[in-house]
Amino acid sequence: MQKPYVTIHTHTSLDGKINAMDLPEFRSASRQYQELSLDPDKQIFNIQGFLNGRITTDDNMTHYRKPEVNENAPLVPEGDFIAEGDASMYYVSIDPSGKLGWQQNYVTYGNRESHIIEVLTEQASNAYKDFLRRLGISYFIAGEETLDKALVLHKLVTLFGMERVMIGGGGTLNWTYLQNGFVDEVSIVMAPIADGDPDMQTLFMAREPISTIQPISFSLLDVRQLEDSTVWLRYKVNNS
Ligand SMILES: NC(=O)c1ccc[n+]([C@@H]2O[C@H](COP(=O)([O-])OP(=O)(O)OC[C@H]3O[C@@H](n4cnc5c(N)ncnc54)[C@H](OP(=O)(O)O)[C@@H]3O)[C@@H](O)[C@H]2O)c1
Repeated sequence: MQKPYVTIHTHTSLDGKINAMDLPEFRSASRQYQELSLDPDKQIFNIQGFLNGRITTDDNMTHYRKPEVNENAPLVPEGDFIAEGDASMYYVSIDPSGKLGWQQNYVTYGNRESHIIEVLTEQASNAYKDFLRRLGISYFIAGEETLDKALVLHKLVTLFGMERVMIGGGGTLNWTYLQNGFVDEVSIVMAPIADGDPDMQTLFMAREPISTIQPISFSLLDVRQLEDSTVWLRYKVNNS
């Protein structure tokens, strides 16, 4: 199996939260996070794709819309579908059973247009694949009933030529890739904010049966002070 260099890149509060807080320091950290990884004029990550969990995409991009599927669509060809093989950036959407209600084949985020790749399992329906084909959205299959995480990375290399990717969240996707030893680096843009909410999303969230609670340690690669009291931390994962 091949794999690209994988960085989990995220912006957090001091208390490890990843959801928005209505504070100028949050907005500054969010901007700097996007500039480091995506902005064509400022980025330094040199990634070709960024992976996002289904809930992150529904929260930020598709807003829980139902996909406009045709249940009577003719059978689509078996296997993967590549609508665009040479985009400069891909939004890799982890959507195992095919739920997301896309309306177009790209997202605009971080001052960048990215072609969407839907990552499905065999659980996704023919009607959903037909829906993606009609929108010109690339998709590939990774796993029968559950997501084959290694195969996802392998196909990003072999089908789309990716050498470096970023996992952009949320906490569930981050932890499942981290726990399974696929992550080369963790990059945290930490804003000087906190809210003490015990129930809010954090950077890493174990979720049975996808992943479990397990202690993992890290070694510091670099630490830099950014604008507005934001700190950028980079760690190597000790089990990778
Ligand atoms: N500050 C930041 O940098 C940042 C970045 C990203 C996200 N966020 C926030 O984080 C929140 C969402 O995080 P989340 O942890 O709830 O969800 P998530 O990681 O975005 O998505 C989880 C979903 O993705 C699919 N999935 C992910 N990994 C899988 C695996 N290994 N096997 C099978 N399916 C897998 C499943 O979809 P199904 O349920 O369809 O099976 C799962 O329920 C959002 O509110 C978002 O705004 C913040």
